Amino acid sequence: MNYQWYPGHMTKARRMMQEDIRLVDLVIELLDARVPYSSRNPDIDELGKNKARLVLLNKADLADAARNKIWAEHFRAKGCFVAEVDSRNGAGMKQIQELIREACREKTERDRRRGILNRPVRAMVAGIPNVGKSTFINSFAGKACAKTGNKPGVTKGKQWIRLNRNVELLDTPGILWPKFEDQAVGLKLAVIGSIKDELLQVEELALWILSFLRGEYPSRLQERYGIAEEGTDAQLLEKIAAARGCLQKGGQPDLQKAAAILVDDLRSGRLGRVTLELPEDGADRKQEGNGGK
Ligand code: G4P
Repeated sequence: MNYQWYPGHMTKARRMMQEDIRLVDLVIELLDARVPYSSRNPDIDELGKNKARLVLLNKADLADAARNKIWAEHFRAKGCFVAEVDSRNGAGMKQIQELIREACREKTERDRRRGILNRPVRAMVAGIPNVGKSTFINSFAGKACAKTGNKPGVTKGKQWIRLNRNVELLDTPGILWPKFEDQAVGLKLAVIGSIKDELLQVEELALWILSFLRGEYPSRLQERYGIAEEGTDAQLLEKIAAARGCLQKGGQPDLQKAAAILVDDLRSGRLGRVTLELPEDGADRKQEGNGGK
């Protein structure tokens, strides 16, 4: 899939989010656990102010388990409820009902004091493309799925999925846009395969991955390809080409092919679980509250 974002797309996505968010009590924000900073559009803080917030570190199965904990703490400290999930196989889903209840406790109490009893909490899912929104909705709501249909005058054509007596979920997720103005963000999203950046060559991605893995996860390359992690990144790519038999006609190493193998191995988890960034990496990002504008 190729997501090309133009100002027009961004304006439309923002308008839809603004419309939908008015209807809900809780925003379930999906992040990619491998790049929680880069897959997050901080505009959600402004769009979702006064709403209960649940952050899901999705694709936690592909991310570094220790770093998942660090990121979860980071978002808890910001006042969000947090869970690590693997929407593809359903791991981590059980706790979500309870987290929704906790996140909306204040609102439920307020309703009770006003004599409103048993009004279900309304929630929506939001996140950038490819973060796993559809997979999550299917996995979370799939079985319980009882669509409430349109409620004229109240929901104006919106479809709600009734999860149980207490929770209704908007069936279309809110689409957020990545922070393209930050080049490092674009690069990391390309590395995990979340966006296809035509400007980035596969070899460029591969060299970034090699440098990153040597620094942050030493010995992974050795384990996967049986190569010594010595020399320059470019030399490592040649070694991978040799180890995987990627040769051009004249016997020269086919670096493009080796790069494609490496990128694919990283994205699919065959190089082990990795997280590409930590909360402190973003500490000097002055624009954090102003991304995507
Ligand atoms: P979106 O609605 O936010 O755009 O994302 P979507 O659900 O389409 O998911 C994007 C890709 O991420 C899908 O893979 C999906 O299977 C995968 N995915 C979603 N959640 C998880 C997760 O928790 N763990 C892992 N490992 N993968 C997840 P795909 O390659 O596009 O499709 P497919 O291979 O599943 O057919």
